Amino acid sequence: MLDVAAIRNDFPILSREVNGYPLIYLDNAATSQTPQQVIDVIVDYYNSYNANIHRGVHTLSQEATDKYEEARKKIQAHFNAEKAHEIIFTSGTTHSINLVANGFASLLNSEDEVIVSALEHHSNIVPWQMLCEKTGALLKVIPMNEEGELVMSDYDNLLSDKTKLVFVNHISNALGTINPIEEIIKKAHHAGAAVLVDGAQACPHIKPDVQKLDVDFYVASAHKMYGPTGVGMLYGKEAWLNKLPPYQGGGEMIAEVTFKKTTYADLPHKFEAGTPNICGGIAFGAAVDYINNIGFDTISSYENELLNYATKNLLKIKGLRIYGNSKNKTSVISFNIGTLHPYDIGTILDKLGIAVRTGHHCAQPIMDFYKIPGTVRASFAFYNTFEEIDTLVYGVNKAALMLA
Ligand code: ALA
Repeated sequence: MLDVAAIRNDFPILSREVNGYPLIYLDNAATSQTPQQVIDVIVDYYNSYNANIHRGVHTLSQEATDKYEEARKKIQAHFNAEKAHEIIFTSGTTHSINLVANGFASLLNSEDEVIVSALEHHSNIVPWQMLCEKTGALLKVIPMNEEGELVMSDYDNLLSDKTKLVFVNHISNALGTINPIEEIIKKAHHAGAAVLVDGAQACPHIKPDVQKLDVDFYVASAHKMYGPTGVGMLYGKEAWLNKLPPYQGGGEMIAEVTFKKTTYADLPHKFEAGTPNICGGIAFGAAVDYINNIGFDTISSYENELLNYATKNLLKIKGLRIYGNSKNKTSVISFNIGTLHPYDIGTILDKLGIAVRTGHHCAQPIMDFYKIPGTVRASFAFYNTFEEIDTLVYGVNKAALMLA
């Protein structure tokens, strides 16, 4: 059982007011809030041992280096990576995907094909389109159906010995669909292709085991996992990370530099040029500790209850349509009411202290599929309550009446 009242006390921001109402934060798919335990780690870093890492013999630098590498090990354990150096710190999911896409530019040619899904965030589409422009490789798309699920029989037909890479999200940010990544990975490997899974939306809800999944690359952001913005991770199988060229040149990623030639550092440093987000990496480790202390079984069963309760009650509102009705779904509800504009609904909700996201959610192909400009999206976290959902339903009803 989740003690939601106690959990809420960990998040200072949840007790603020917005427009004279208690904040109801339902934009967790955009970014999650940060518990005091993680904020304390950030404050402690700047108060006690702020220094550059891997560079100094002095005490502060050693302490910061130890904590940073300790965080890497926590993340390794969390994702069950075999080796700590298979975890690369990045600035977030977008950076992680661009790093891999850039690396594949040296491995693909115009005979090759890559496969994306119709359910992707722009960050898992655009870097690959740029890759295809550079290499001449062909981009193919696994289509979606009305329920917001991938059409897996079409995936079978897209795969061939030309396929070199498949990239899909674990969970759709716009609809909440949980994609069958186990099957996607197995089939891609059968065809000889590598797979990158964008786990940005999954990691707050699911604990992925990268070895069990046998995935080649898995990427995520700390800020959707109750950590800070500006830091994320790339998991890559060692063999792949050794094969890919570095993404950025600079300090830290080298073994030796002369004007004739530079040799690169071993993993993970080869991909970590420049001074990283040291405090962010350490806080990411603390956020991983925080969610593991609650436990993913507890988190997912509570969030599923919230999802079912919200779905049932929102559907009572006349003219409300939910987009994305997969049975395998996490706590995201994307909806519209008739022809009312999502921005107008979102603005009225904000006046009541309720934070939701409106628009295309950086997933325009999904909106094009449904022939809509956007949706209102409410996304839940384990600190949300059933009472907050009642207020959301009240607010949406009120918005519908006002805008009718
Ligand atoms: N990817 C984030 C979202 O879905 C920003 O809102």
